[in-house]
Amino acid sequence: MAELLHVEGVSVSVDNVAIVRDASIEVSRGEIAVLMGPNGSGKSTLLKAIAGLPGYRIVSGRIIYYGNDITHLEPWNRARMGIALAFQNPPKIYLKVGNIIDRLSKTYGSTDLVNDVVKELGLSQLINRDLYSGFSGGEIKRVELALTILMKPKLALLDEPDSGVDVDSIKRIAMYINRLAENNVGVLIVTHTGYILRYIENLGRGYVMIDGRIVYSAPSYEVVKKIMVSGYGEFNKMGGMS
Ligand SMILES: Nc1ncnc2c1ncn2[C@@H]1O[C@H](COP(=O)(O)OP(=O)(O)O)[C@@H](O)[C@H]1O
Ligand SMILES: [Mg+2]
Repeated sequence: MAELLHVEGVSVSVDNVAIVRDASIEVSRGEIAVLMGPNGSGKSTLLKAIAGLPGYRIVSGRIIYYGNDITHLEPWNRARMGIALAFQNPPKIYLKVGNIIDRLSKTYGSTDLVNDVVKELGLSQLINRDLYSGFSGGEIKRVELALTILMKPKLALLDEPDSGVDVDSIKRIAMYINRLAENNVGVLIVTHTGYILRYIENLGRGYVMIDGRIVYSAPSYEVVKKIMVSGYGEFNKMGGMS
């Protein structure tokens, strides 16, 4: 598999506070890589830094994407190059779901995908609703994934696509993630529980983040197995504040 993303020893600060420290992660085309860790360990911060969100300052290290150094590239340029982030807690935008689907699909030339996304992710009842307003956990995550897919990403960063989501939604979401990978999209899933991974067909590399550092990396299924057996306790000993 050709390498797509290489995060090389990246440290990220928010408001001058060091959050992520010396993190290295790789994702290849068509790979579903997984980043796990306890709440507050810095997973979302790392994803936002990869997407280039303002305020997430990369103070050292490099982000290489398709062989280009994008460490300091503007977020919209990263989006144009195919990096899409599905938020853990998406910001509210005062638009109808249907309107934002229209805008995105025109901007990214993905109008051909709209029907499929709406059907497979079960969005037809949500089209005329205000985006995320009064949505259930599963509805938020299904719409968030749909909007990400309509950006035709080459790298999809999915922040806790399974948190607060009912089983039926998890299955639909996982099925679509599997399809992204089949279409050669590189996927990086952040998950705290690992629940969604049982529905993912081809798991790639796995990483565990504790206190801003990647303390363990192995094939994802091994990472999940370790966490299922003993939680994050064992990894805590490897990380720590010092
Ligand atoms: N804007 C911010 N200002 C200050 N601290 C922040 C900010 N965003 C996140 N943090 C802190 O960074 C740490 C990691 O947060 P986050 O990346 O959201 O962790 P995770 O996604 O692993 O739960 C937390 O201690 C959080 O409070
Ligand atoms: Mg998070």
